[in-house]
Amino acid sequence: MRIILLGKPGGGKGTQATMLKDRLGVPQISTGDILREAVKRQTPFGIEAKKFMDAGLLVPDCLIKDLIAERLREQDTAEGFIFDGFPRTIAQAEALKEIGASLGFDIDAVVNIDVSSEAIVTRLSGRRSCQCGAVYHVVSKPPEKEGVCDQCGAALYQRSDDQEAVIRNRLAQYEAQTRPLIDLYEKEGKLVTIDGNKQIEVVFADILAALGV
Ligand code: AP5
Repeated sequence: MRIILLGKPGGGKGTQATMLKDRLGVPQISTGDILREAVKRQTPFGIEAKKFMDAGLLVPDCLIKDLIAERLREQDTAEGFIFDGFPRTIAQAEALKEIGASLGFDIDAVVNIDVSSEAIVTRLSGRRSCQCGAVYHVVSKPPEKEGVCDQCGAALYQRSDDQEAVIRNRLAQYEAQTRPLIDLYEKEGKLVTIDGNKQIEVVFADILAALGV
């Protein structure tokens, strides 16, 4: 299956994508994770992207398009994938259509995880992340041992863009640039909207039911 997860920053895309990838056996493609890895390795691309990420702004479409085109040429995406954080603008959605046409695929479903804006700051300020990709929350999903990843044992960290001022910018970017994708995919008959305010396992069950898997 080829699935897009849409939603506000902190709405649970990464959490659900990780669970879906295990269930469906297809890779999770998180543009945020790919960008953070490039920032960590201090590649020229990462150095350029960091300026936007630290300010809570979207990285320019031209950089993201190339990144996705390259990722989709890798063999592990042949049977499907779950996009987590892409596309985020109309231009990115159009680029995806072009890439799909050239590689011979179309998107099967777009899952919009709908969460109230009030919940977002609480979720993001309590988020703890691991270098291995695992994501926790100090209240709703704490690790067994405080500050330590259950999966790989590494120390958890707080993302630099999970500060309140940056979160506000990320939400503003979502409203201006990403929300229009809801209409776009609704018109294409691909959109399902899930109430993301429920518990993690309930949201997951609702997504599986909506996808019919
Ligand atoms: P990215 O990493 O994609 O960040 P985001 O979209 O802001 O999303 P998050 O990763 O913050 O949240 P999420 O929805 O995955 O929620 P999570 O599951 O972690 O992007 C970062 C930056 O990179 C962007 O600002 C931009 O600069 C750049 N970028 C990335 N992609 C780009 C693109 N395509 N174009 C341009 N720029 C791009 O959950 C959050 C917390 O809530 C966790 O602690 C979790 O445990 C908890 N939680 C999850 N679900 C629930 C629940 N149901 N109940 C209670 N708690 C929950």
